[in-house]
Amino acid sequence: MGQIPKVLGILGDPIGHTLSPLMHHTAAQHHSLEVVYLPFWVKADQLPAALQGIRALGIQGVNITIPHKQAVLPLVDEVRPEARLIGALNTLHNVEGRLIGYNTDGPGFIASLREDAGEEPRGKRVLLLGAGGAARGLTIHLILEGVAELTLANRTPEKAQQLATYVREKLSWATLRCLPWGGRELEELLPQVDILINATSIGMRPGDPPLFNYDLIRPHQLVCDIVYRPLETPLLLGAGQRGARTLDGLGMLIRQGALAFQIWTGLEMPVGLIRQVLLAELGYN
Ligand code: ATR
Repeated sequence: MGQIPKVLGILGDPIGHTLSPLMHHTAAQHHSLEVVYLPFWVKADQLPAALQGIRALGIQGVNITIPHKQAVLPLVDEVRPEARLIGALNTLHNVEGRLIGYNTDGPGFIASLREDAGEEPRGKRVLLLGAGGAARGLTIHLILEGVAELTLANRTPEKAQQLATYVREKLSWATLRCLPWGGRELEELLPQVDILINATSIGMRPGDPPLFNYDLIRPHQLVCDIVYRPLETPLLLGAGQRGARTLDGLGMLIRQGALAFQIWTGLEMPVGLIRQVLLAELGYN
């Protein structure tokens, strides 16, 4: 009899188009590991039952995506400290019927920053645009990595303030501040930061407004986008045209997946190969 396949998956609502099955199947095939990774469309009211099903069926691991990342937290048996800090999970590992919750989104971004862009966050001045779920994980991990200064700006200023308050409560040493979206202070800060990150959804839709005047970008900067569809967002195109280095959102997607794959299998994800495969799937090259 052959190997019993490892069963993995992703829970979300909706779950339409996800690159995760292709990513994990490619990584598993690379290691000659039999893996079945399935998308599960789970409504909010079925989330507790779905988790019980994972335990009962012995599904070894799942990713959690929108809108369940926060709701899943009280439903698991153990939460890793960093994930508890963020208050959201994107990865569950079933260890003999006990579900252990992780969040690999923030660490995935940091890994992409280091490995894909060759940038060390410690001591850097960082501007983060956005205050949603993605921004929260990034904010916590940038603080944990010891950035010198972190500024948040969000279209709805109250959400940036709430995020800053939340982070200061969790990490008392955090030095972060908020600036109004589109204001003069932000325009003055923009050319001075070392790392600029878009954690809003702007850039996904063709009619999206620009995030700011891209003439404010300077060649010494690293400009990062968490949007990966399209891969070259208007922000990254603007940054590239002005001589800045860029980091696209596919890096973070792959690195968060690589961390989950390692948790489930103990094996390294072949990130170069995965990037090639995902680029082809997205219609590039
Ligand atoms: P995610 O979990 O991916 O972060 P989210 O929680 O819905 O998603 O957050 C989306 C982010 O994109 C928010 O920061 C949002 O700003 P608001 O808090 O003001 O809604 C930002 N965003 C979305 N569309 C935007 C737009 N047209 N202009 C400016 N910011 C926008």
